[in-house]
Amino acid sequence: MSIKHFLQFNDLTRDEIEHIFARAKWIKSQFKNYQQYWPLTDRTLVMIFEKASTRTRLSFEAGMQQLGGSAIYLNTRDSQLGRGEPVEDAAQVISRMSDLVMIRTFEQSIIERFAQNSRVPVINGLTNEYHPCQILADIFTFIEHRGSIQGKTVAWIGDSNNVCNTWLQAAEVLDFNVHVSTPPGYEVEPERANLYGTDHFESFADPMEAARGADLVTTDVWTSMGFEAENEERRKDFADWQVDADMMKVAKADALFMHCLPAHRGEEVSADVIDGSHSVVWDEAENRLHTQKALMEYLLLGKVA
Ligand code: CP
Ligand code: NVA
Repeated sequence: MSIKHFLQFNDLTRDEIEHIFARAKWIKSQFKNYQQYWPLTDRTLVMIFEKASTRTRLSFEAGMQQLGGSAIYLNTRDSQLGRGEPVEDAAQVISRMSDLVMIRTFEQSIIERFAQNSRVPVINGLTNEYHPCQILADIFTFIEHRGSIQGKTVAWIGDSNNVCNTWLQAAEVLDFNVHVSTPPGYEVEPERANLYGTDHFESFADPMEAARGADLVTTDVWTSMGFEAENEERRKDFADWQVDADMMKVAKADALFMHCLPAHRGEEVSADVIDGSHSVVWDEAENRLHTQKALMEYLLLGKVA
């Protein structure tokens, strides 16, 4: 049997995503009712971080423990990964001592090379190109608040980064629309736009037009990890791409606001929006835990009834 990895959102089919959402709902309710559920007893997750994290580390480590297994944290500073050991060699060794691997790294090609040499499933915990676990949690959160996302419109305001790319992939898999507005020079790469087709993706020069009539407005930091040298330039370039109360007014009256966090109030989002009535950012962060537990269950055990 071939190993199933989750390196990009479209590694899973719509049917598989729907199964994971159903399991996440059940796993969440068990957790909220203090019911033990230990299907992964004696299973070990290795988490490799080449970039900082609060939510991803916590949700994977707590999630694995809550499912009865254990989690080991590795970073580049304290392991041989930072001293030039080839990714292929690291994958061989790490996957002989564990059941599941989660990686947060730079280029997507690193995680792909790791997966090609891994004996166990590999999960993308964020790369420069994608953040599939985030969008799993975000769409689960949307469904909890508003029902099916099919046919709905998500407005992405800001940088065409890893989170934006993953929204575009998810739109193809789950059949909804994404309106993207970025400052000039930060547009979705043309080859990526072509990859996702134009059926579910529309680009807007004016962020207010992207947000108009949207069911969900979402954004992310102006400067992602690894791009810190561009920080000052980006602050100037992105100044008009802030999600504020005026922008939320042109979206649907019951539109949700999401942000993967961490957020910078006064930059990509105003404080009154992220702390206001449209915002579901805390549910979104919590749902990283429940959806990733369902994902780990699926990758290790297949479809559990
Ligand atoms: N949203 C997200 O992935 O958060 P962390 O960087 O804290 O893991
Ligand atoms: N786009 C951000 C997401 C952080 C969770 C980054 O890559 O830094």
